[in-house]
Amino acid sequence: MASRYSEVYANWKNDPTSFWKAAAGDIDWIKTGETVFDADQGQYGRWFPDWECNTCYNCLDRHVERGRPGQPALIYDSPITGSQKTYTYEELLEHVQGHAAVLQDQGVGKGDRVIIYMPMIPEAAMAMLACARLGAIHSVVFGGFAANELATRIDDAKPKAIIAASCGIEPGRVIAYKPLIDTAIDLSSHKPESCFVFQRSQREADLVPGRDHDAGQLMQDAITQGRTVECVPVKATDPLYVLYTSGTTGQPKGVVRDNGGHMVALKWTMPNLYGVDPGEVFWAASDVGWVVGHSYIVYAPLLHGCTTLMFEGKPVGTPDAGVFWRVISEHNVVSLFTAPTAFRAIRKEDPEGKFIPQYDLSQFRSLFLAGERADPETVNWAIDQLGVPVIDHWWQTETGWSIVGNPLGLGQLPVKPGSPTVPMPGYDVQILDDAGHPLPANTLGNIVVKLPLPPGCLPTLWNADQRFRDAYLAEFPGYYKTSDAGIMDDDGYLSIMARTDDIINVAGHRLSTGGMEEVLAQHPDVAECAVIGIADKLKGQLPCGFVVLKAGVKREHAVIEGELVKLVREKIGPVAAFKIAITVERLPKTRSGKILRGTMRQIADGETYKMPATIDDPAILEEIAQALESHGIVATA
Ligand code: COA
Ligand code: AMP
Repeated sequence: MASRYSEVYANWKNDPTSFWKAAAGDIDWIKTGETVFDADQGQYGRWFPDWECNTCYNCLDRHVERGRPGQPALIYDSPITGSQKTYTYEELLEHVQGHAAVLQDQGVGKGDRVIIYMPMIPEAAMAMLACARLGAIHSVVFGGFAANELATRIDDAKPKAIIAASCGIEPGRVIAYKPLIDTAIDLSSHKPESCFVFQRSQREADLVPGRDHDAGQLMQDAITQGRTVECVPVKATDPLYVLYTSGTTGQPKGVVRDNGGHMVALKWTMPNLYGVDPGEVFWAASDVGWVVGHSYIVYAPLLHGCTTLMFEGKPVGTPDAGVFWRVISEHNVVSLFTAPTAFRAIRKEDPEGKFIPQYDLSQFRSLFLAGERADPETVNWAIDQLGVPVIDHWWQTETGWSIVGNPLGLGQLPVKPGSPTVPMPGYDVQILDDAGHPLPANTLGNIVVKLPLPPGCLPTLWNADQRFRDAYLAEFPGYYKTSDAGIMDDDGYLSIMARTDDIINVAGHRLSTGGMEEVLAQHPDVAECAVIGIADKLKGQLPCGFVVLKAGVKREHAVIEGELVKLVREKIGPVAAFKIAITVERLPKTRSGKILRGTMRQIADGETYKMPATIDDPAILEEIAQALESHGIVATA
């Protein structure tokens, strides 16, 4: 089938208002308004400013009312605990209402923030939808973040309540969440009024009288009593959630997502980008703590009337590298969305794909990859092994959905290895030089999106309009700065080459090296430090910290390095995967004192590099190379 992409993209470009108004027809509104886009509101305009809606209604109630009550809405498959459970749309609605009733009883209502700190269990999705039902604003914090990171988010979001589980389960260890939450609340200046804890049998939590509640028990009671909670009408522009993501400092950015535009955009992507029909099973093997989990485990599949899958496990080791194929075949998954690192992990364990023929994958139609660069080697392996289209697509927490992709639903475009293909309708992607001038095709530059951003993208940062403008709009007036660098070819295909800031991507997780440097600098023996991301065959990148010790420190370097690794794990969390700390005499700098992180990375990755013209003392680069070698770091790029 010839792709309709060009025609659809042109339709959008000719008349964005009509395009998004038509897309809005797939959403049930409490009130439709006069205005599709108001350029004078917000930081760069607002979508559907006078429309009213409820996201939970669109995800659940309307499917129950219109023919899908008995269809599975959510399948929980947890190889790590050996359990499975399926909720129909009717059952999920019942649970979400029970949950909403419990929150409401504690005074949680429209506009209140609720932090959700949970592993991949159905109650996490229920908590998100319960907040949406009440018009409360959820903020999910990934379970791999430490108490300190949780405290930062508590102080920024000022939640009325926290919803948590008693523990998360990683291979070989149970992580008690409650002590982390208690520490975070001790550390934060803002104190949430209540904490709802789902007790898991693997590790039950002690509850603080007066503040903590047994969420499972309360929810069950509410369900038994048949409690119902009406969907609270919210403005399309009211926030649905705040999701914190790494910025250039240790202070994460609170990405705001609104209700109306978000629904319109996500609903549009399900048939047009992912090529999935209502009633089919869609699986995003991510975590609800990341944007992929928000958009494609919870909201988009449910908005579209699909069955979504929550997987509590790993691509390998739970129990083996065949688990993805087992889940696909057992639950009739038609489309899987995950990060390339998951496929690198599977390929490493099972290079010949021996597990694959053990399962019936005849229903499986497509694999989508995002979150980090999809290396052609991994993509080609997946195509060879699975025989389905493997679609790389590029997006960010900020956008909430794909900026550039290959729209299967509109008809697949030819694939160019290493490129996530072409801009989706809504995004006018351009490449600019550092002075803001457009660059010709095939030239590396800053990737920007001409304003306004489409529905679904962040309107601002939580309580930080100025930071939003500074971070995204100031450098290239009239454009949104993606902080990715790339190239667009003559056919309009984009290739993403690198971040232009200090963000690194570790196993598909976005991390700030600046944030890690802030932690290293807290160590009493450290005078100076620099963290870079070095290439890693499995995780894409790994953080590597260099430290210069204070004069007179006589302690053994290996001991201090061990303490630094522990400190980052304690302060940021295991997700930082910070395992390499290296003591050096000096850091390479320019004559004006700027640390040459880029050159250090090139040395670590074994790339050829040009001696920076402004370098203060070239001999230091040799010292860095030797230090890397003595720590067994061999270039894997
Ligand atoms: N709670 C607590 N700890 C967690 C956690 C969670 N939810 N998730 C990860 N961690 C821990 C891991 O146990 C690991 O700890 P360790 O240092 O003691 O081994 C550490 O954080 C680093 O995790 P990760 O980088 O994910 O490594 P891993 O070895 O556990 O798994 C992969 C490697 C490739 C299998 C895994 O990263 C993966 O499946 N990635 C998919 C990527 C993804 O989901 N991306 C989201 C965007 S699409
Ligand atoms: P996050 O906000 O966690 O989704 O991370 C967004 C960043 O991940 C982007 O700015 C890119 O640097 C990187 N990224 C996401 N998807 C891709 C992709 N398909 N190809 C290359 N890089 C990607």
